[in-house]
Amino acid sequence: MGAIGRPRRSCLAVPGSSVKMLDKAKGLPADQVFLDLEDAVAPLAKPDARKNIVAALNEGGWGGKARVVRVNDLTTPWTYRDVIDIVEGAGANLDCIMLPKVQSAAHIEWLDLTLTQLERSLGLPLGGIGIEAQIENAAGLVNVDAIAAASPRVETIIFGPADFMASINMKSLVVGALHPDYPGDPYHYILMRILMAARMHDKQAIDGPFLQIRDVDGFTEVAKRSAALGFDGKWVLHPGQLDAANEVYSPSQADYDHAELILDAYEHYTSEAGGRLGAVMLGDEMIDEASRKMALVMAGKGRAAGM
Ligand code: GLV
Ligand code: MG
Repeated sequence: MGAIGRPRRSCLAVPGSSVKMLDKAKGLPADQVFLDLEDAVAPLAKPDARKNIVAALNEGGWGGKARVVRVNDLTTPWTYRDVIDIVEGAGANLDCIMLPKVQSAAHIEWLDLTLTQLERSLGLPLGGIGIEAQIENAAGLVNVDAIAAASPRVETIIFGPADFMASINMKSLVVGALHPDYPGDPYHYILMRILMAARMHDKQAIDGPFLQIRDVDGFTEVAKRSAALGFDGKWVLHPGQLDAANEVYSPSQADYDHAELILDAYEHYTSEAGGRLGAVMLGDEMIDEASRKMALVMAGKGRAAGM
């Protein structure tokens, strides 16, 4: 499986300011960790957080997890120093840089060029470090197609619901929860917009955080909505949310088994017919090339999850 398709059911946030949490995260069952330099870290703590993150990446012990560092956004004075210190310090032990509050393709182009410069000067494989783009305001969403297309380094498009809700003046403080005054899902358009841009450009679509960390049922309910649409995973702010994320963004055992059955049956019946049949029956269900494709997606996710 290529880098783009690596599992990201659970993307665990780890504040770069906490050496203890950085260490603990290594042993947790997350598909991805992102070591944060942005909103979880106070301005005065950012220089030390950069050092903690470099040390934690170079120490190793992350298993097969995707190792990502979230830098500060390009309206702050910190972004370039974040990128340079992290990549110069630990570029060989890093999978992606996450850029928050991306508003245009230019933000991604800046990061792409900066990473290329760093890779050239450090002798790292060119294009080896990926980019994760957080969509957190109206400009980001309106430009999301161009953002997804801006560099082959982009691996994920991420919904940042807390900043997004603040930026559009949404009348709610509970991220992802349905709103009593709105007769539908207030996030549906945003999620679908991000998902279409991601799929058009072959990127992963990742749902953002759920802040009520003790309410695992609430987390699960919100996660199920984006998983149902086709999102690949979700942020996890607390280890207590990890199992729920890994489960919600994996197929159910029944769906996985059925997908494998469709693939076997389709292959078997169509080859038995010498390639002359496009649609065949599996019990009471008609399966054709489109069913095979749906089954392939489901089976692929299940296999990646070790089912
Ligand atoms: C995440 O960064 C968010 O703003 O929800
Ligand atoms: Mg944010």
